[in-house]
Amino acid sequence: MRTTTTFALAALAVPLALAQTTSSKRGLCYVNTTYSNTDDPIWDSGNSDLTWYYNYAYTPTSGIDGTKLQYIPMLWGAPPSNTDMTFYNNVKSLIASGTQVKYVLGFNEPDGCVSGGSCVDAQTAAKTWIREIEPLKKEHGILLGAPAVTGSPTGFTWLQNFFTACAGNCSADFIPVHWYGDFEGLASHVGQVNGTYPNMTMWITEYALAEGSLADSQTFYNQSANWFDSLSYVTHYSYFGAFRSDVSNVGPNAAMLTQKGQLTDIGAWYLGQKATGNTPKGDAAQVAKFAGWAAVVLAAMMWVMT
Ligand SMILES: *[C@@H]1O[C@H](CO)[C@@H](O)[C@H](O)[C@H]1NC(C)=O
Ligand SMILES: *[C@@H]1O[C@H](CO)[C@@H](O)[C@H](O)[C@H]1NC(C)=O
Ligand SMILES: *[C@@H]1O[C@H](CO)[C@@H](O)[C@H](O)[C@H]1NC(C)=O
Ligand SMILES: *[C@@H]1O[C@H](CO)[C@@H](O)[C@H](O)[C@H]1NC(C)=O
Ligand SMILES: *[C@@H]1O[C@H](CO)[C@@H](O)[C@H](O)[C@H]1NC(C)=O
Repeated sequence: MRTTTTFALAALAVPLALAQTTSSKRGLCYVNTTYSNTDDPIWDSGNSDLTWYYNYAYTPTSGIDGTKLQYIPMLWGAPPSNTDMTFYNNVKSLIASGTQVKYVLGFNEPDGCVSGGSCVDAQTAAKTWIREIEPLKKEHGILLGAPAVTGSPTGFTWLQNFFTACAGNCSADFIPVHWYGDFEGLASHVGQVNGTYPNMTMWITEYALAEGSLADSQTFYNQSANWFDSLSYVTHYSYFGAFRSDVSNVGPNAAMLTQKGQLTDIGAWYLGQKATGNTPKGDAAQVAKFAGWAAVVLAAMMWVMT
């Protein structure tokens, strides 16, 4: 059920020789794992390129808080009641306590109802947005990320339904995009989002070549980073994600850290550093054991692999 549109394939011609190895667009897609306390300092080490992070929540991660990575709060799913103001109040508190909040993100994979997406219907999401997210722009000038739908065709439908339900009252400033698959698919998908929302900037907030060989994963990483750096309408991107290869739910070769917590080549390149030569290894038993954290993100994978 993968989309086969051929938008933006001209992008494939972007030569690797034009590679920019550093970019201020890069951020961290933070997931909590059993290794987080040990690994958190890596992301801001050695002149790291990273300038921002999100953690699917609205409380900063203690191991990253206070570094140069700017925190982006997210309202992950539907709150428990239709009068709930927890997200709004928490963002206000962050601002009151001196945290700079320039952006917020709304809803993680709301069209994902099979495994781990936030599974929110468009009407509920629109009402919640109008109540808890939109006022943050009016009151604090915060720029708002549209709901981050999955890379599947249902994502486009869901987002369309969301904006219809909003009836003009949800003023998203940018479109977050998720993609798991190869570079041709990524380019096609981004082209389709651009075609659907031609005047919106995009953030690629989750992407990876899942379960690829190491060589393919590295080539994918290079091609996509170079391409995002060259596209003026992609202002931010965060490669998935902050974890070791042995607990990676997108395969060990995509990971930025080895099973020992050292930067892989991809991890080092992402931080704007030289290749390390550290080879990531997987461990199926570990992935199963720590699959809990993966639940927040797994939905994106389902349609790609079926
Ligand atoms: C992160 O994970 C560790 C170990 O799995 C756990 O002790 C900790 O409470 C988690 N933190 C958050 C914020 O979920
Ligand atoms: C959108 O805003 C208009 C003007 O304030 C209001 O009349 C309308 O009820 C709002 N629609 C929704 C779905 O909230
Ligand atoms: C994105 O959309 C704009 C406006 O429609 C167009 O000029 C541009 O070529 C598109 N970019 C890609 C990569 O498709
Ligand atoms: C996009 O922006 C252009 C130029 O500002 C404008 O003419 C066009 O109507 C806009 N398209 C949409 C879909 O808003
Ligand atoms: C990826 O890019 C880095 C630095 O830009 C380069 O050293 C490396 O050879 C590239 N690797 C692949 C597989 O394209």
